[in-house]
Amino acid sequence: MLFQPLLPPKYNNLTDDEFALAIAERKRQLGKRLVILGHHYQRDDVIQFADFTGDSLKLSQAGAAQKGAEFIIFCGVHFMAESADILGDDRVKVILPDLSAGCSMADMAEIEQLEEAWEFIVEECSETIVPITYVNSAASIKAFCGGHGGACCTSSNASKVLEWAFTQAGKVIFLPDQHLGRNTAYAMGIPLDQMVVYDPKQPRGGLTPEQVRDAKVLLWKGHCSVHGLFTVAQCDEIRRNDPICKILVHPECPWEVVQKADLAGSTEFIIRTVKESAPGSHWAIGTEIHLVHRLATQHPDKAIRSLAGVQCLCSTMYRIDMKHMLWCLDELLAGRIVNQIKVDPETKRLARIALQRMLANVNPQPMAVR
Ligand code: 13P
Ligand code: SF4
Repeated sequence: MLFQPLLPPKYNNLTDDEFALAIAERKRQLGKRLVILGHHYQRDDVIQFADFTGDSLKLSQAGAAQKGAEFIIFCGVHFMAESADILGDDRVKVILPDLSAGCSMADMAEIEQLEEAWEFIVEECSETIVPITYVNSAASIKAFCGGHGGACCTSSNASKVLEWAFTQAGKVIFLPDQHLGRNTAYAMGIPLDQMVVYDPKQPRGGLTPEQVRDAKVLLWKGHCSVHGLFTVAQCDEIRRNDPICKILVHPECPWEVVQKADLAGSTEFIIRTVKESAPGSHWAIGTEIHLVHRLATQHPDKAIRSLAGVQCLCSTMYRIDMKHMLWCLDELLAGRIVNQIKVDPETKRLARIALQRMLANVNPQPMAVR
């Protein structure tokens, strides 16, 4: 994890209103030199300052399009800021307000583990294999995929990217989210018995050479700690207590939950589905709690609740707050750039290949699960 320095004490004593006024004023002073990007899981008090909001795919595109700005403040997590640096113009500096805003899923795949897995798989299989990484991964993992004929995907375009991958080879290794990989491959018609889970913590992934040879999809043993909290029991309870309620989940949820749901798709898909639904409709949503609350506030004519009784909060997204935003802005106005996310040139070159292959397959598709 990167080290986030403590902020000067002057940032401890402001009220929320004082923070909001100060941020708006600094933003006005920086004008077109600054663009703020915000992921849908950010808090309301942070996302109110975003010039662009979106899911991971939309924000990758927005990051790539910022050619005129000097700075991007990325209100999201570390891998998103890295993607913005990889795809963006080299003159644009990307800033993550709090360096401790990582992603536990991205941390489940380390480059050394992937290199070891690759060596084993290539040794056991004579056929070509394509590595596909969810954008929720380190730049080094993206670079590996770019350098080995693979690509990135987001939850908006995973099926398009997997379709592309199977035009390149008969076998895919998908990392780091086993659930997105399984849900996407299954929705494309690949049966579960043609998928195996590679556990990077076990010698040879815990797999026999036969399992590796027979599988069409090798799923990395990684998951999202937030979406992993949604369960089949919660779906059953909704069905019992509110028969008209539709269950709408993110494809980072386990396969059994996605099978029980009415619809599954990225955060952007979730927002669009709720927006286009009829007044009076009921929704139980399986994704991060800030987005669910925001949807409930924006659509008072619909009954919107979280699928889980517990609060499914992404604690790292939550680290981005007004205090850290104001500190970054003050430093920029003083001529200092803090918390810049900068990927080294060679990693950037290869990771960009993987991201650009994804963007070429971009057409977002909702996942048909029932
Ligand atoms: P999307 O932004 O692709 O919906 O993914 C959600 C997520 O978990 C981001 O970390
Ligand atoms: Fe990572 Fe899950 Fe948080 Fe997204 S919601 S940043 S995948 S831990």
